[in-house]
Amino acid sequence: MTPDAPAALAAEAGALTAAAIATLEAVGSVAELTAARPDLLGRGSPLTGLRRRLGGLAPEDRPVAGRALSEALATVEARYDARLEELRAAERRRQLEAERLDLTELAEPPPLGRLHVITQTQRRLEDVFCAMGYTVAEGPEIETEWHNFGALNFPPGHPARDMYDTLYVDHGPPAGTLLRTHTSPVQVRVMQNQSPPLYVVAPGRCYRQDTADATHMPVFHQIEGLVIDDGITLGDLAGAIETFTTAYFGPGFTSRLRPSYFPFTEPSAEFDVQRPDGTWLELGGCGVVHPSVLEVCGVDSERWSGFAFGFGIDRLAMIRYGIADLRDLWTNDVRFLEQF
Ligand code: PHE
Repeated sequence: MTPDAPAALAAEAGALTAAAIATLEAVGSVAELTAARPDLLGRGSPLTGLRRRLGGLAPEDRPVAGRALSEALATVEARYDARLEELRAAERRRQLEAERLDLTELAEPPPLGRLHVITQTQRRLEDVFCAMGYTVAEGPEIETEWHNFGALNFPPGHPARDMYDTLYVDHGPPAGTLLRTHTSPVQVRVMQNQSPPLYVVAPGRCYRQDTADATHMPVFHQIEGLVIDDGITLGDLAGAIETFTTAYFGPGFTSRLRPSYFPFTEPSAEFDVQRPDGTWLELGGCGVVHPSVLEVCGVDSERWSGFAFGFGIDRLAMIRYGIADLRDLWTNDVRFLEQF
């Protein structure tokens, strides 16, 4: 057997190296690359197999050929490692891209509810009166005829008691239960249950047999005020109304009282608010609490005196927010309600 020519071995090693590098360039993933490793660099790979043929060389040729073979393997190995890094980096880039969170993206915020404009108005009124030293009282919406009318001096034949204004509740005997037509019965309950001095407001729902239109609803809201203290006069009432007007509407607003009539106050008045443009708005009723109301509620009318006022919360919201039709408040169209 003639010894292998070292040149032939070197040529074969060069060809196998080139083929191995071509394979390394062609693989497209880390998985393909690692799968190709045994064929390129493993014990059974053609390049490693050339080692076995070193023995067939003339002894003086073996070191040079052996070194050339080692260099060929080292070249393929180095290329393999480089390619592994490249493919890993590419796969990592692809993964990062696929899982990327775009923190600059504007996500639609979840729709949040809000308090109804009447609730907001009521709370704001409570805040204003609390700041003036009043506390908040409540009473039932289903009232006795006595609290709603009788204790407040409405004579039995008074038109306000009429079936056409008042929604009576059929409770069975004893008769005389109704949906309160105003918040004034809370005055009665406060005076019966607490001792003067009293500074309270009572906001809440009221009911009247009214046909719904732009300015009337059968269900509406009022806020009642009641003050009982030493030597309270009509002047204190006017001052309280004026303080409230500037606190709620702002410094450009002022108020006035106009003579009126309510059975449970004497004297009685309507109070109006003047806008900065000079126009007047009618807001509510008020007056000095009638002595017989004090007596009926257990307050000594020789010792104490007081005033009361009451006005519509819905009306106030209409004025403040420029709402043209009261019915819009209750049809629950979010496009309307979310403006407030
Ligand atoms: N309760 C009266 C109404 O509903 C308003 C009012 C309250 C008047 C307090 C005087 C005093 O019309």
